[in-house]
Amino acid sequence: MVKFSFFIIMSCAFSKFKYSALGVRLYSNKVLGLFSTTHKRNYAVSTEEPLKKTPLYDFHVENGGKMVPFAGWSMPVQYSSLGVLASHLHTRENASLFDVSHMLQMRLTGRDRVSFLEKLVVADLEELPVDNSILSVFTNENGGIIDDTVICKHNDHIHIVSNAACADKDTTHIRKEINKFQQRGGDVNLKIIDDHALLALQGPKAASVLQELCDKDLSDFMFMTARHLNIKGFDCHVTRSGYTGEDGFEIGVPSPASVHLANLLLKYPSVQLAGLGARDSLRLEAGLCLYGHDLDETTTPVEAGLTWTIGKRRRKESDFLGAEHVIPQIKGGVMRRRIGFIVEGAPARENAEIYNNKDELIGKVTSGGPSPSLQKNIAMGYVKSGYHKLSTELQVKVRNRMQKAQVVKMPFVPTRYYK
Ligand SMILES: *[C@@H]1O[C@H](CO)[C@@H](O)[C@H](O)[C@H]1NC(C)=O
Repeated sequence: MVKFSFFIIMSCAFSKFKYSALGVRLYSNKVLGLFSTTHKRNYAVSTEEPLKKTPLYDFHVENGGKMVPFAGWSMPVQYSSLGVLASHLHTRENASLFDVSHMLQMRLTGRDRVSFLEKLVVADLEELPVDNSILSVFTNENGGIIDDTVICKHNDHIHIVSNAACADKDTTHIRKEINKFQQRGGDVNLKIIDDHALLALQGPKAASVLQELCDKDLSDFMFMTARHLNIKGFDCHVTRSGYTGEDGFEIGVPSPASVHLANLLLKYPSVQLAGLGARDSLRLEAGLCLYGHDLDETTTPVEAGLTWTIGKRRRKESDFLGAEHVIPQIKGGVMRRRIGFIVEGAPARENAEIYNNKDELIGKVTSGGPSPSLQKNIAMGYVKSGYHKLSTELQVKVRNRMQKAQVVKMPFVPTRYYK
């Protein structure tokens, strides 16, 4: 609920937005105004526990962070120094620092950790080289996606990062499966990592900045690999990855050192703080899914266009949860598919209806908004199979008006991972 109202409000703000210097100002003021309203409203109606704070909470407030409720956490949506649009463009050209400590970090140990985790996700973890990470999904018994996750295989443990909004159900699911597994004699243990903050440094200047702060050469530190780096005396778990489509790093740092590290990074003029607002438009341009919007428990990896995450051997062995539903879909097809499209006219938002050219309802938007980089309105959604092919002409209903749309390739903006 909290999460949804965040995005609905974002949507209102975006629709008034114009791509001009003035627009940027209007936009930031608009967001500020609207967010303070949501903030109060969420407090007023909330019967849940108080919002959780990351170790960087005070740091955000001191730096002008506009804090909003997100997945049970109080997180910065933007900072007073830069509007969401400016922050987005800054990330694409320079580098941005995001606090992503709200995400769930876990550690799996035990002799059978690989075979255990392979029951729960679609990746080939056996084959994954040590110190490499992979995007994967946890599936349920029907093959629906419980969560998306990044799994990093180390010599003696597996490091897992998943969504804050799914933290409770992920840990419940994993613990339940661990119990069953242990009863059959399997050796696996789960530890929630709650003593480390997670900072994402993203953008083309990220590598040169980080290089100045650590002694090891980063030029052979490739996309989706992981290292322990000593960053100015702090022992950090770093992966070369991110959620913006840019080169960058996710830095796991002991919580007590996190503010110090953030300040060190922020000393560089090319680094600015960025919040959830820019994170959302950046990941949308990069064609990346947001759980709870573009992915959910009724959607399979094949429908979601994530078939590539299902390992070759996993397809043959067909032994992850729900595999009997998912594997036949790879060959036999699915009824609906995730697509990306460009919309003419006003931006299309989550839940907007998608029609074919005969005015038949064929699907629904799951994420959408203006693309600051392309200066066009982009969206993701699910349509009936057959309408998912590139260049297919569609219509999207926005405020009761049909608007033209066209299926395009994702990512919308070319990714610049360090490969
Ligand atoms: C990138 O950073 C420089 C300062 O280092 C700044 O002048 C420039 O405007 C920034 N670019 C964007 C798009 O924000």
